[in-house]
Amino acid sequence: MTSEKSRGILIAERRAGDCIITGMRQKHTLSEMKTGGCTMIGGHLLHGGDYNPEQWIEYPEILEEDLKLMNKANVNCVTLGVFSWAELEPKEDVYTFEWLEEIIDKLRERKIQVVLATPSGGMPHWLTQKYPETLQVQADGTVNLPGKRHNFCYSSPVMRRKVKQIDRALAQRFGKKENVILWHISNEFGGNFKDSTCHCEKCQKKFREWLKNKYGTLDKLNASWWTGFWSHKYTDWDQIHSPSPQGECLTTALTLDWKRFSSEQITDFCKMEADALREFSDLPTTTNMMGFFKGVDYNTLKNAVDIISWDNYPFWHERKDEVPEAVYTSAGNALMRSLKREPFLLMESTPSSVSWRSHNPLKRPGMHMLSSMQAVAHGADSVQYFQWRKSRGGYEKFHGAVVDHKNGSDTRTFREVTEVGKRLEHLSGGIKTFLNRAKAAIVFDWENWWAVEDTSGPRQDLDYVKCVTDHYRAFWECGLDVDFVSMDDDFSGYRLLAAPLNYMYKKGYSEKVRAFVEAGGTYVTTYFSGIVNETDLCFIGRHPLEDVLGVVSEEMDAPSKEFENCFDYNGKEYPAYTMCDIVHAKAKTEIYSVYKKDFYKGCPVVTENAYGSGRAYYLSAESDQRFLSAFYKDVFIKAGLLKEASSADRILKRLPHGVTAAKREDETGRKGLVFVMNFNDRQVRLEGIGKQIDAESGEVYENVLEMAPFSCTILKLK
Ligand code: GLA
Ligand code: ZN
Repeated sequence: MTSEKSRGILIAERRAGDCIITGMRQKHTLSEMKTGGCTMIGGHLLHGGDYNPEQWIEYPEILEEDLKLMNKANVNCVTLGVFSWAELEPKEDVYTFEWLEEIIDKLRERKIQVVLATPSGGMPHWLTQKYPETLQVQADGTVNLPGKRHNFCYSSPVMRRKVKQIDRALAQRFGKKENVILWHISNEFGGNFKDSTCHCEKCQKKFREWLKNKYGTLDKLNASWWTGFWSHKYTDWDQIHSPSPQGECLTTALTLDWKRFSSEQITDFCKMEADALREFSDLPTTTNMMGFFKGVDYNTLKNAVDIISWDNYPFWHERKDEVPEAVYTSAGNALMRSLKREPFLLMESTPSSVSWRSHNPLKRPGMHMLSSMQAVAHGADSVQYFQWRKSRGGYEKFHGAVVDHKNGSDTRTFREVTEVGKRLEHLSGGIKTFLNRAKAAIVFDWENWWAVEDTSGPRQDLDYVKCVTDHYRAFWECGLDVDFVSMDDDFSGYRLLAAPLNYMYKKGYSEKVRAFVEAGGTYVTTYFSGIVNETDLCFIGRHPLEDVLGVVSEEMDAPSKEFENCFDYNGKEYPAYTMCDIVHAKAKTEIYSVYKKDFYKGCPVVTENAYGSGRAYYLSAESDQRFLSAFYKDVFIKAGLLKEASSADRILKRLPHGVTAAKREDETGRKGLVFVMNFNDRQVRLEGIGKQIDAESGEVYENVLEMAPFSCTILKLK
């Protein structure tokens, strides 16, 4: 593991509210840095963002102004070089790093740290002109033309050689610079077009090698992919092609393996970059991920870097009710934290609006602060933006930035950014090693995502992320922190594990769940779970967890709107739609609800089965959010998740609509911060909360907390 290696970490000290870079280089292992009192790179929360001075080289007065304004905006860290390849290597093998060095030095004088990117996200035209084989090929065989970004083949030996060469040169030149704190590898891997993968001949060849390695023999592959269907048995490895709309795209096991392979290719590319940097630099590495991004399995990519970071662009103010977006965004942050179960970095966010949606609303007053605190609340040690200054031209010239085309610092955005910087600075001292230590987890697994949405079957319109985030919302409404785990993770530290739409069971998964429940854990799962193995072969005979769940599925209905079913739960009626599993309960299984209509009237919808020292719940049908919230609340209480362990936990039982909480605490759970967030566009009043102390102002709230619209109050955990 790279994190075991020794890293030189630049330690910055905060003195009297100021960030002072001491220049002292202490040797810490990365794991020491994360557990031994210095979770934050540089010892403070980062505030700043992408800075693209290469676009402004001809405007020295602007570059000077930038530096002054950065100090004014309480910026302590910028990301340089994300798309600077053409300025760093204008001609093949000719490096012009002087401008970058000059800027890094000037930033140091201003006490601003630097996240330095490798430039592979955007290819210079000399590269694609001389080496067209570096360009990506689409699934239908179309060779891409130069342009856009992320447009390269991950297998291309030339691309790899060229990237390695410039990465090594950058690491050699800047790897020991005092204010450079972190490597940012490439940009949003896999973000090209709709398909993140390259289908060129080199990639096809590599894929076949990968398959040979995985299956050993064609017989094994044919059996695993069930190629007897439609006479598609492979008799030669060269008969295998990547999935394509013009060819084989219905052998779902092939598609699954292709996605696994492509994810590994991207990870391997990222690792190649990390290794190149490592030759000359001890600094930690990251790559900016994209939350719930389907193209790359982040449980694979996470292994190529030391620190997780991501880009987060919620669609605020699309609807009057911000809750669905707030839930989705909290889930994204939690997902990123869960990858390494460590603090992560918010690498990009917009200080005002984006420019790439059909319409791009501005963040309403307060929302910038709230959404920034939301990231910190869920484990981020930074609030970084795309970008510092609005480009004058190009595709993103209207994308929100800290500094606008006009008006310098005299803007609402600039003032709100400045406030965020100030707040982070004050929080830095207190947040120490605090992290969300979730007692519940939701299974979110990329391989299951690919499998369940690609399958033909009861429905073609399944939305795994929506289903998972609907379940997550029930936790969010109760202010409970949740980790997202893959099927390969260890569940033993959790009290509750929810696995909605868990269609695929990976090898060893059912055994782990059984042991988890046996030892006292609570397991919640749903319809269309435990159906296939890793190569999309249906389980035959029994469901792998039949004994634990206490139900036996017989048929699966996928009713239309007109045939929607319903059931009662705790005296209220809820709908049953999308998928209605028709199950029989075993003798000892407790039945809470049954279908009220149709030929399966009376069949169980909500069940609980005691198993070992734990219990398992089965939800046979999809229902609405009201049901999920009511159901989970009961489960939380039974699983002991809503106990008032600290006085701040009193708040969790009194959260009104649109208000949530997240807790960052130390390992003992005795010290920490509770972030209470109001996503309503109106003031709310929390009552019956006992005595609470504001962690920032020291103010004491006696039983009542008034929250402004779109605001976050941070309380001391006691
Ligand atoms: C992504 C990219 C940035 C920029 C922003 C705009 O996150 O990494 O370069 O394009 O989107 O929202
Ligand atoms: Zn390729």
